[in-house]
Amino acid sequence: MKSYTLIAPAKINLHLEILGIRPDNYHELVMIMQTVDLADRVELKSIDTDDIILHCGHPDVPLDRTNLAYRAAELMQQEFPEAFAKYGGVEITLHKHIPIAAGLAGGSGNAAAVLVGIDLLWELGLTQSSLQELGAKLGSDVPFCISGGTAIATGRGESISPLASLEGIFVVLGKYRSLEVSTPWAYTTYRHEFEHEYDREPVSVTDRLDRIHSGALVRAIVERDPVKIGGLLYNDLEKVVLPAHPLVSQLRAEFQRHPNLGTMMSGSGPTVFSLADSRSQADALYHQVRAAITDPDLELFVTQFCDRGVRVI
Ligand code: C5P
Repeated sequence: MKSYTLIAPAKINLHLEILGIRPDNYHELVMIMQTVDLADRVELKSIDTDDIILHCGHPDVPLDRTNLAYRAAELMQQEFPEAFAKYGGVEITLHKHIPIAAGLAGGSGNAAAVLVGIDLLWELGLTQSSLQELGAKLGSDVPFCISGGTAIATGRGESISPLASLEGIFVVLGKYRSLEVSTPWAYTTYRHEFEHEYDREPVSVTDRLDRIHSGALVRAIVERDPVKIGGLLYNDLEKVVLPAHPLVSQLRAEFQRHPNLGTMMSGSGPTVFSLADSRSQADALYHQVRAAITDPDLELFVTQFCDRGVRVI
């Protein structure tokens, strides 16, 4: 039976701006997303039965259809019934390295890898944009996870425009293992508190989209200027997640106490990250935060920006 192993990188947000609410009740977003080398490994193989079998050694990862990776396989079965009849079911093994419910799109990346892997297993020959269209049915971050690199994401987050590569910029990530933030909670709470500030006019949404394209952060990315990028990090969801989770605020403040290029929470959190100008600055920051917060629940990672999404190894 054929099998594939895929690498599914984590993402961080360099920019996350909430513009308003959409008719589908999702938020209209403008984000700048970046994949990093910290990644899960996803193994896929065809099996003789019609089943979807999911394995994962991590105790908090569900193995049923509540897992987005499972739903990705189900979606492929529904969309390509002839290939499913020909090739049969699929066994998926997730090797988790990306923290869970962390604002790092770990679950979305796993689902992206299942789409890419089944396309190969079933010899479908789908284009990246067809895979991204399928991914958008599963979750807003899945299309970005397929292509990765540095990109502007708009709409629900599913509409992707690639930007120049920032490969190699160092970043330190910190997350309390037992602290999880639900993305629906973060957005619902944000809506509750800030709905009065939402853009209601479609024209002003368009203006704000134009503004990001010609804005300072995109210019700094094109110039590959990590100092400027670090100074321009922005995330609206910090306004609701930081007050609700003092540990995350303290962790963010601790990161900021030491030399780095800019610190922020990623996505709906609770992961906090700092950009660094070199491996030695990143390593120093890792050790400084580790020395200041001895709680073994705190996980820290030194990683680098990468210019790819899901890939086969
Ligand atoms: O798209 P996804 O299923 O990953 O989104 C998870 C949740 O995050 C949604 O159910 C919604 O509550 C919130 N969300 C949102 N607006 C977006 C993306 C996500 O409100 N653009």
